[in-house]
Amino acid sequence: MNFPITRMRRLRQSPQIRDIVRETKLNPEDLIYPIFVKEGLKDEEKEEIATMPDEYRYSLDDAVEFAKKLEKKGLKSIIIFGIPLESKKDNIGSPAFDDKGIVQKAIRKMKEETNLIIISDVCLCQYTSHGHCGILKSGIDINDSGETIEVLNDETLKYLAKVALSHANAGADIVAPSDMMDGRVAAIRETLDKNDFENVLIMSYSAKYASTFYAPFREAVCSAPSCGDRKTYQMDPANSIEAIREAELDIVEGADILMVKPALAYLDIIKSLDDNFLLPIAAYNVSGEYSMIKAGIKLGYLEEEAIMESLLSIKRAGADLIITHFAPYVLDKL
Ligand code: PBG
Ligand code: ZN
Repeated sequence: MNFPITRMRRLRQSPQIRDIVRETKLNPEDLIYPIFVKEGLKDEEKEEIATMPDEYRYSLDDAVEFAKKLEKKGLKSIIIFGIPLESKKDNIGSPAFDDKGIVQKAIRKMKEETNLIIISDVCLCQYTSHGHCGILKSGIDINDSGETIEVLNDETLKYLAKVALSHANAGADIVAPSDMMDGRVAAIRETLDKNDFENVLIMSYSAKYASTFYAPFREAVCSAPSCGDRKTYQMDPANSIEAIREAELDIVEGADILMVKPALAYLDIIKSLDDNFLLPIAAYNVSGEYSMIKAGIKLGYLEEEAIMESLLSIKRAGADLIITHFAPYVLDKL
């Protein structure tokens, strides 16, 4: 049927009509809030992150207090990022699998004091002296920028499994490996199962791109690689078929939830994984996406509505879950 019988504007004529025909809605349970917990920070001395306006590094206690506030507003899940003391970092990222590490402590306390679903980021980069997500081939001078950096795949798997296990021991409900090594999901699943953690979920950063949109995050957690880049493990932004292969492998290895990261510049990838696979899909609305919109609003180039519109686009593309620094804002809006 054509115009004038069909008039698309009939469906848009009032807020009430628009409300009842709206296809996509954001709900509090769609949101996962990323929180930064810094070792050695005193209570009530949260540090504002220079590259991420209104976001902070929290002490252990303050992080839990803030999480409680968000839980009262309807938040269901949180993902924890740790910032260890600089002096504890080493070549193999030991503080990442220390049972008394900052993330492990934060997981325990969050589990004790909230009913939130606790997700932990499993990676080494915040804990290694060289800032890479894996173990480097020995003998390479990591401070010599002229040297080729080789991040060892299979060697790294053992450490990632140790990290995931220590998070599960602390009480994590979901572990989220973000390193992009081959075989990490299988290695983690096997270790968790051997230790009677068969009910701990794995949310795999399946399609994680080597993106410049992570820059504000690296500043926030001091995890930029001291030399080289992450292009030998994170995906090439030009590729989409490869994302399907990554997701297929993660599913075979035992992933429960697939993730695409970043979100906004990769909406096609979210859609493609949602079309191709039956698993829940998460999307990571990364630091650069957050800071870009915050800066636009602050400068008066954008209006606040940009926040909801961009998050809605991520959901519309097919994400069931959205990891976003805008979660506190959205919870207030809904
Ligand atoms: C580390 C990690 C990164 C992010 C989450 N985990 C950055 C990176 O790969 O350098 C990015 C988060 C963000 O930008 O919000 N594996
Ligand atoms: Zn990493």
